[in-house]
Amino acid sequence: MSQLIDRFGRVVTKLRLSVTDQCNMRCIYCMPSQGVEWIASEERLTFDEMKRIVNIMTMLGVRKIRITGGEPLLRPGVEQLISSISKLNGVDSVSMTTNGYFLYQYAKKLYDAGLRGINVSLDSLNPGKFHKMTRRKYFERVVEGIEEAEKTNISPIKINVVVIKGYNDDEIEDLAKLSRYKPYKIRFIEFMPLDGGNRWKKNLVVTKSEILEKVSKVAEIEHTSNDPSDPARIYKFKDGSGEIGIIASVSEPFCADCNRIRLTADGKIMTCLFALDEHDLKSYLRGDSTDEDIMAFLIRTIKTKWAGHSINNPHFVKPKRNMSAIGG
Ligand code: 5AD
Ligand code: SF4
Repeated sequence: MSQLIDRFGRVVTKLRLSVTDQCNMRCIYCMPSQGVEWIASEERLTFDEMKRIVNIMTMLGVRKIRITGGEPLLRPGVEQLISSISKLNGVDSVSMTTNGYFLYQYAKKLYDAGLRGINVSLDSLNPGKFHKMTRRKYFERVVEGIEEAEKTNISPIKINVVVIKGYNDDEIEDLAKLSRYKPYKIRFIEFMPLDGGNRWKKNLVVTKSEILEKVSKVAEIEHTSNDPSDPARIYKFKDGSGEIGIIASVSEPFCADCNRIRLTADGKIMTCLFALDEHDLKSYLRGDSTDEDIMAFLIRTIKTKWAGHSINNPHFVKPKRNMSAIGG
């Protein structure tokens, strides 16, 4: 079987599929307050186009699909897409990253459609701080949404926390504690330069070692080795209750083990979150290309994947799109 192998021998097995770039929140680490210009609806891939590309990718060894946005639950009927792709031969799991706002009404539908894992953003346990970071007063709704997901068997439930110095770094301990009394895994994420508002500065990043220092104040923790292609490094509380993960994209880049590829809502392949080149898949999907032509295009495209990002290099260049338009 052909596979998607890059020049460094990394094999792609995971797709992050952005179903819309639109979002109802304006998180400071992602979007400017005035928002960004949305992709025109005719430029957005249809569900049939997405299903076709997922099917082609399974023939190239892709096994796990993560639905992202913007906010994926803003795309009407997304549960139908999940239902159809989760039934495709070769798809092992379909998961989603969401801001949780619509989860209250969607959790059961998503589970019934075959969704298994969910990552929900919750940067603070304090409604005022949540508002400051997301620019929206949606704290209660998001918490209710997470609780609704808990009532279904969607598992794992992971809570994404982007840690920013001076905003929520004083809550690391409380958020870590949450993993001890709720069935949630906490994922602390280092702030990356992908915000639309040009706020990112190195001194706003709270590093993995700073996060670990605070988490260890809660109770004794131990490192658990996990799949190196998982961006999170995992730590468990030694007394057996609770687990946290740290995504140290800035202080300990994990590019060498990356097995991901991304597809934006307007049909561009991005071989990396930080890729400067986008590869137009949509023109193939909308032209008269065969599945074999598209496979050849993907095999060529993956060869352009870089060894890694250069956030820590003084010559770092930000990608054109901000996080909400790439999909995380
Ligand atoms: N840095 C780190 N993580 C980010 N996210 C969004 N923007 C950033 C950023 N600049 C995370 C959020 C969201 C997921 C899609 O990506 O946690 O849940
Ligand atoms: Fe929306 Fe997610 Fe970006 Fe926040 S991080 S503005 S919820 S897309």
